[in-house]
Amino acid sequence: MKRRKALINTAGLAGISALTAKNAFTADIETARFGNVIIPHEKEMGKEKHVPIIDAPSRVKAGEPFMVTVEVGKTVPHPNTVEHHIKWIQLYALEEGSQYVVNVGTFEFFPTFSAPKVTLPVMIQKNSTLYALEHCNLHGVWDYSVKVEVE
Ligand SMILES: [Fe+2]
Repeated sequence: MKRRKALINTAGLAGISALTAKNAFTADIETARFGNVIIPHEKEMGKEKHVPIIDAPSRVKAGEPFMVTVEVGKTVPHPNTVEHHIKWIQLYALEEGSQYVVNVGTFEFFPTFSAPKVTLPVMIQKNSTLYALEHCNLHGVWDYSVKVEVE
């Protein structure tokens, strides 16, 4: 299971287009900083319904678009009410050897009118790690990542 984290005081997060890998996704993500970071204990959270699962091919061709889907509640549906819903999903990419995490896409949702699932074309030049973040209005920010190799 992937690590997850909740962020508080996330003002400005959506506007960040590139972050340093050292600051955003270190080997020990608990020390990462996106404003103020808190790490909810796994057993305290309904992890299955919050993790933003990434569906992407494991191998792609350099510079050619491939489809990436990020879905929250894939195995256990997350509530989608005004009181409890997913506010946004963000997808980031970190190319091998780069120190920059690039915001590939940011998607906002309105409760009851949209489901927390997005599909977008992505292009990479080198082996990369894709990171997805999602924000639940009650349970904070959760993450997931996958590696994609370039042929
Ligand atoms: Fe939630």
